[in-house]
Amino acid sequence: MNRLFKPYLQNGGTYKGGKTLSELGTDRKIYKLSSNEHPVGPSPKAVAAVKKAANNFHFYPDRNGARLQTALSDFYKNEIPAGQFFTGNSGSEILDFIIRGFLGEGLEAIICNPAFGIYNMFSGWQGATVKDVPLLAPNFGLDVDGILNAITDKTRVIFLTSPNNPTGSYVPRADLEKLLDHVPKHLVVVLDEVYYRFSDAPDFVTAMEYVKKGHQIIAVNSFSKTYGLAALRIGYGYSTPEIAEYLLMYNRPFLLNQLSIEAGIAALSDEEFVQETVTMVQSERTKIYAALEQMDVTHWKSQGNFILIKPSMEATTFTEAMLKEGIMVRPVANFGAPGCIRVTIGTPEANAAYLAALKKVLTVTA
Ligand SMILES: Cc1ncc(COP(=O)(O)O)c(C=O)c1O
Repeated sequence: MNRLFKPYLQNGGTYKGGKTLSELGTDRKIYKLSSNEHPVGPSPKAVAAVKKAANNFHFYPDRNGARLQTALSDFYKNEIPAGQFFTGNSGSEILDFIIRGFLGEGLEAIICNPAFGIYNMFSGWQGATVKDVPLLAPNFGLDVDGILNAITDKTRVIFLTSPNNPTGSYVPRADLEKLLDHVPKHLVVVLDEVYYRFSDAPDFVTAMEYVKKGHQIIAVNSFSKTYGLAALRIGYGYSTPEIAEYLLMYNRPFLLNQLSIEAGIAALSDEEFVQETVTMVQSERTKIYAALEQMDVTHWKSQGNFILIKPSMEATTFTEAMLKEGIMVRPVANFGAPGCIRVTIGTPEANAAYLAALKKVLTVTA
């Protein structure tokens, strides 16, 4: 192997995400329920801000994300100051900053499969070893003791996701607190909260109160989901003053483009839009459970804008059959959930089309 190249970057570990509609290359009406996108469209306030910003493309953007950091602090009612937020081009880039900041050759990360594939991939790109402490059957609960037992002197990052992609499960307050009370100081707990607005469990928690208490925890967040800005690639994290200051080293000049900055600030003020989105997703989620139960399709209750199902047929065959019916869904074997399919909650119209297609596909093959 050529010594010029880092061996761990040559493992072919590229992310195999869901296809875009243009990649499908069809004029047919397709309901895209494969990438957990917003069911309707982008935040109107963000769109207006982007249009306005387009007149100033000849100028460089703000040198740093300071205005967005301040808007984030305001959004969180100044619970922590602007300097404890850090911004980037998507939640994925925030994860990349964390992984580059804390992991490398000879160091270890812990993930809990089924999990978002990026944790494993980006950690591998830094030469780190990734240990899996799988979520527990039957409902994908966190194995807190298993995680604590897997920690070594080399562990630097524990990745938690709440609500979790692709299972829809979440990390209850008691589990998070038990973990935070027992982890050593040489590691950070990452709490990926990109779906947090869709949750309604009474013991659901975000990282905020633990950051305020000084625990070594980092929240990861995104504008892709609730604000409908996936194409713009905007994300943020927040943590303790010490960790935020450390990660802000990656805040290179002009990191965010002006569209992202303006869209992000405007989206944070578009609470009405978020409320409408969340109300729709939560009420559709309940309706879909009822239909899945009626059709006797194995599924798990979700705190996110998606529901994991396990159809009674092979996952790839099922996915193709659904696509023929105009519904794009996502097999998630590569997330550690073989045989399972993740289906995004769409508009009432899209969900009705999904359920009709599901019935047809499962009946025809029964
Ligand atoms: C759990 C989780 N974290 C982070 C992200 C990254 O979101 P983005 O890079 O679009 O901000 C996603 C996207 O699907 C996700 O599911």
